[in-house]
Amino acid sequence: MSSIIEDLIARKIFNNRGDETIEVDVITTSGFGRASAPAGKSLGKAEVAYYPQGGVDQALKAIDDLIAPELAGLNADFQEEIDNTLHEIDGTKNFKVIGGNTAFAVSLANAEAAANSHGLLIFQFIGGNAANTLPFPLGNTISGGQHTRGKTPDIQEYLALPNGAETFLEAATANAKIHKRIGELLKKKDKLFSGGKGSEGAWVANIGNLDAFEIISKACEEVGNELDFECGFGIDVAASSLWNEKEKKYFYQRDGKKIDAGEQLDFILDLIEKYHLVYVEDAFEEEDFESYKELTKKSKNCLICGDDLFTTNNERLNYGIKLNAANSIIIKVNQIGTLTDALETIENAQKHGYTTVMSHRSGDTCDWHIAQLAVAFKCPIIKTGVVEGARIAKINELVRIEHFLGNRAKMADLKI
Ligand code: PGA
Ligand code: ZN
Repeated sequence: MSSIIEDLIARKIFNNRGDETIEVDVITTSGFGRASAPAGKSLGKAEVAYYPQGGVDQALKAIDDLIAPELAGLNADFQEEIDNTLHEIDGTKNFKVIGGNTAFAVSLANAEAAANSHGLLIFQFIGGNAANTLPFPLGNTISGGQHTRGKTPDIQEYLALPNGAETFLEAATANAKIHKRIGELLKKKDKLFSGGKGSEGAWVANIGNLDAFEIISKACEEVGNELDFECGFGIDVAASSLWNEKEKKYFYQRDGKKIDAGEQLDFILDLIEKYHLVYVEDAFEEEDFESYKELTKKSKNCLICGDDLFTTNNERLNYGIKLNAANSIIIKVNQIGTLTDALETIENAQKHGYTTVMSHRSGDTCDWHIAQLAVAFKCPIIKTGVVEGARIAKINELVRIEHFLGNRAKMADLKI
């Protein structure tokens, strides 16, 4: 068995939006790994650059000219060394030269090639025998905000979290049922509802912000009663997309209201109380750490999560930890570039009691690596939609991992 890297092969493929993305194969003496990169729509300002100038074509050239020659001969088992080499080749702080998505695809394909060289799955290779905990699936059911067009809710995502499930399969079943039930309720509410879905497979409907709360709340309650366990839910406000920097207000087009940070805090606190929300992501614009601190202090039994707020960036997380801003963090490896960078943030978050949420992007491929990473890094939640090919690829991979682990598998401990 040897994990010496022999070659890297890169190609242009497409994501679920039909946008170009990069896929990389890493070939070792006795193993193989393949990973492709996702793309966000509501980007955090502090994310690394996805591609160099020249896009995916330039990234492919960087693999051939700069990365493959440097990595050939190195041992894929040493992930940190591989990732540090990517940083050295790039030489900038935000992967402007080779592209963050290029680094992401190489980094993940390398992890798989190393695991495969030893005849192991990624979660076993990285997490060892202790990696037997399955995450709860947090799944988008109703879309709004920047992920849609037309008269949809301003809030970007209404997310089911079946927190009472005893197995991953049960939890995934609950989410699928909730998603279907919501489709039926939307049809009842609006006779013109066409059954349209967004990139993440969540319904796109002509309803207001509060209508969506009523509908998801009813669906979760009904499915929870049917399955006999608790099905909670939450939201991703993606508040940076609602924020108007000039007026210093959040614009809710659908409700025709403009509110300041204090009013936004009260609005979110009311929603948490009224609907017993278990999860609220990006409740404020991405520089307003102070409001996150207030919300974290004033809310109860609810995960206050930062996505654009932290962008998987350890420095930003450190700032949040100092202030007690949020108690949960979204982990999107391609926001920061490599597995080693993401792991540093995850370990810091977990050490400080933050719930880590491994996440897809709205633009994604059928790549399933984040399912393996969620188990390897002991993330209690994975945010990866309910239906649609790119989402189901990850959900099904977790079903396989649970099946593979048999009675050693257990669900994560959710601190809600
Ligand atoms: P993105 O959004 O993948 O479009 O950035 C998803 C999210 O905000 O969680
Ligand atoms: Zn988000």
